[in-house]
Amino acid sequence: MNIKDIAKLCGVSPSTVSKILHNKDSDISVETRKKVLEIIKKYQYVPYSKVINSASPKTNMIGVLVSGGSYEVQQFLYAIEGAAAREGYSVILCNTGGEKENIDKYCRILENKGVDGIISICQKEELPEELKAAQVQILDGKNENHKSAAADVCFEMQEAGYRAANYLLEKGHRKIACLLRKEDADIEAGFLLAYKEWFISPEKEWVFFGSNEDITNIGIAKCLNEDVTAVICGDLEIGNILYGKLRERGDTIPNKISVISVRDHKMAEMVYPQMTAVHIPAKEIGEAAVNALIEIVEGRKPAYECRKKIELRINERGSVMKPADHDQGGKIVVVGSMNMDCIINVSHIPTGGETVRSGNIVSLPGGKGANQAVGAGRLEGLVYMIGRLGNDSDGKVIYNSLVSSGVHTDGVVFDESVPTGKAYINVAPDGESTIVIYSGANEKLDRSQVKQFEQLLDDAAYCLLNLEIAEETVEYTIQKCKKKKIEVILKPSSVEKMKESLFENIDYFIPNEKEVKQLIPGDTSIEEKADILLSKGVKNVIITLGHKGCYLKNARYERHFPAADFYPLDTTGAADAFISAFAVALSEGNDILYAVGFATYAAGVSITRQGVQPAMVDRKGLALYQEEINGFS
Ligand code: RIB
Repeated sequence: MNIKDIAKLCGVSPSTVSKILHNKDSDISVETRKKVLEIIKKYQYVPYSKVINSASPKTNMIGVLVSGGSYEVQQFLYAIEGAAAREGYSVILCNTGGEKENIDKYCRILENKGVDGIISICQKEELPEELKAAQVQILDGKNENHKSAAADVCFEMQEAGYRAANYLLEKGHRKIACLLRKEDADIEAGFLLAYKEWFISPEKEWVFFGSNEDITNIGIAKCLNEDVTAVICGDLEIGNILYGKLRERGDTIPNKISVISVRDHKMAEMVYPQMTAVHIPAKEIGEAAVNALIEIVEGRKPAYECRKKIELRINERGSVMKPADHDQGGKIVVVGSMNMDCIINVSHIPTGGETVRSGNIVSLPGGKGANQAVGAGRLEGLVYMIGRLGNDSDGKVIYNSLVSSGVHTDGVVFDESVPTGKAYINVAPDGESTIVIYSGANEKLDRSQVKQFEQLLDDAAYCLLNLEIAEETVEYTIQKCKKKKIEVILKPSSVEKMKESLFENIDYFIPNEKEVKQLIPGDTSIEEKADILLSKGVKNVIITLGHKGCYLKNARYERHFPAADFYPLDTTGAADAFISAFAVALSEGNDILYAVGFATYAAGVSITRQGVQPAMVDRKGLALYQEEINGFS
């Protein structure tokens, strides 16, 4: 800005301005003088700024224009300030409120201060054309008319709407509602585009625009009346309102309704369940804007070469899962234990009276029941869990692990009176392990809880049980399963005795070598022990043998299968991986030989990773071994 610009804004000649600036204004009226001084003050005009600038062409100052202080804007500012400081630049911040007049004013002020460049964040109005400072715009939308003076870094809210909808469609949701702000038309456009690509037409009634009040009083009821299975929220605030309403109605998230926000916020980790959101990578955007500006200022690149579109991504947390009616295999219900595993790496497993030191201890979600549910969920089975956790942080971690693996948690109860179960696991360098269990809340998983959630067993194809919960609860569940024609898969765990009457109702009995030796002691081979189990009424016996594979015996087959060839890091939970994959394969209508192959490879992958639940393979991972699995049948 120079003296001519000021004169033009005041409607006087440059010499009048000059006289006033140099106190030679005795012939100038009081009103004109007042007007000129006001404009000079408004634009913070510094006389001879051009001279100063040419003597010192760089000031290492960047001006930043913002409108408002939304969470995203704050994040951009942190990133811009940090990146600028690292490059030796300081930042002058101007809040324009998005007003055209303020934008023009602040641009002139910033030029007067001699800034090297200006970054404007999400300004709806254009920057003045005659601006001389280098410019980078952060845009929430496409830059349609690419002004040659300005470089840009853009992200698109249409993409956010598209990604949220596509993510839910991929999970199997077809009826998805949107609760949006009035200005969120871009998000709706992305939502519609995703549906179009899936060749499905969403109903008009599924999209609602309004204020918080409208959404609370009208929007939520309107879209939930449409029987939607998932809701896209314009932001976290809307998500929170929805959480509250769903809770009032007794609808669980995500079992009944999945929720995703198209804007992310750290608050998303503080709600329960943590909210899945489309993440706008503010740090990446802010840094890209600073880098582009510096490239232009330092003459390394022209503005037109500094244009970047930033991809958005989904931050998966715990508020989305497949809808209950999604086309999956038969329903699998797990009734079993859930523990927080304290995994202790040792040089060797200690024997009586011995003390060993550990250099590495980690806590990870476990428990045979939860492990089997998570394993089946990862493999895209339709899985429901009935179990009991303490109302403590361990319980919440396990619950989140179930939910994020796609397990329906309707049957999980948080017990106020006892802590979550725990398992202390020593793992030796060869992957072998020993376990000490504290039952905690698992002990209180009784027949009344199974009765309470009995409807979850309706239409189930398989029920997975283990003996880390009370035998009486197992017996009661088996009786229910028999009445409902559900096949029972049972894993015993280090018990010396089992009630004889249980055996005749077990369809698949899957002990390991030690467990079968405990149950059927004596000098007989495992083949003979399997025979004894069959004679007690078990329909199929599969004995897992670690690195030696497994042995199957039923009325039709008697066969040894080799283990999959993987290097063991931690073998804890390999049997749980085996059982969950076995159940998923059967639930999809496969024969028992294929199911053993599927299970063998799921177990194989699991031993290559530490922990149990984090080690469970997903469908894509297991598909890599499809040829080998096919070889089993
Ligand atoms: O089968 C492995 C599991 O046994 C561990 O996760 C531990 O919790 C125990 O239940």
